Amino acid sequence: MRISDKPIAARLKELGVELRPGVPLSEKTSLGIGGKTDQLLLRQFDTIPEVMRLLADENIPRRFLGGGTNVLIDDGELPYVVLHLPTSQPGMRVEGNTAFVDAAADLGGMVTFCAKRDLGGMEGLIGVPGSVGGALRMNAGAYGTQIGSYVREVELYRAATGEIETLRGDDIHFDYRHTSFAPDDVMLRVKLALPSKPYKEILAGIRVCNEKRRSSQPLNQKSAGCIFKNPAGGSAGRMIDELKLKGHRAGDAMVSDRHANFFVNVANATCVDMLKLIDDVRERVRSAYGVELENEVIVWKN
Ligand code: EPU
Repeated sequence: MRISDKPIAARLKELGVELRPGVPLSEKTSLGIGGKTDQLLLRQFDTIPEVMRLLADENIPRRFLGGGTNVLIDDGELPYVVLHLPTSQPGMRVEGNTAFVDAAADLGGMVTFCAKRDLGGMEGLIGVPGSVGGALRMNAGAYGTQIGSYVREVELYRAATGEIETLRGDDIHFDYRHTSFAPDDVMLRVKLALPSKPYKEILAGIRVCNEKRRSSQPLNQKSAGCIFKNPAGGSAGRMIDELKLKGHRAGDAMVSDRHANFFVNVANATCVDMLKLIDDVRERVRSAYGVELENEVIVWKN
């Protein structure tokens, strides 16, 4: 969707928004898939409610994109604009056992920053790609750690009230790859309470997780991490592997030959290719195991 030539563009600029016309979202996602649209960089937190009201008044559909590492975006010209927080020099600071971090920060960067200040607990999250905001929204987790366990407060733009609010950690539900945040909420900052641990010990934990990840996941290929959630008591990856679907393709979308719950873009996969592969694999698992796999990746259909 193009709004850069509309009168609203000047108003957005006054509100501190940087408008980048016609951005290919394939360049903003780890899958390397996604069509084109105007991108709005929200450079001032305090004007976000006004920006949202303005877009609503002008009937301009919008979606918020974080690190782009867990999303499958449709092809072609997208019927919405994309909002984004600037990622250069996000705020991070530590006071005692509390870390204050901007949602735009890189998740791994945050883990390392805290580790260097002798705050641990999040070692398992080290190789999870994406932003802190995206990790909060999905309650990202790996190797027995999930970010929700450490959250004390989240500052966010709340779609329900149209205002910036601060939620207490206790008032947010963090479940397996699911939270009580609304789809339109925009994470802005988080306050985490972390256990003290010597840097050397944290580093040892980080190395173990990195090694496990390197040996089991296709880290050098374009993917969105795991495509499906694990069903209760089961493993999506193991089932897909047992069905001998590693290497199975739809166009340029392929089931990774390293980890069967990772679907990779081997060259120029489209969203259509990836959705075909997802549906095909889901159907095969359903008929073989009677299990309906649920997407872990978030799909933005036009
Ligand atoms: N397995 C296979 N073949 C495969 C992949 C896995 O047999 O191709 C087996 C493994 O041998 C193991 C079991 O399945 O016995 C589970 O595999 P793994 O330890 O790799 O973990 P996972 O359940 O597939 C989850 C998360 C990952 C996270 C890892 C490590 C989900 C959907 N996935 O994967 O998170 O990195 O544990 O903690 O919860 C993600 O969220 O995108 C993601 C990749």
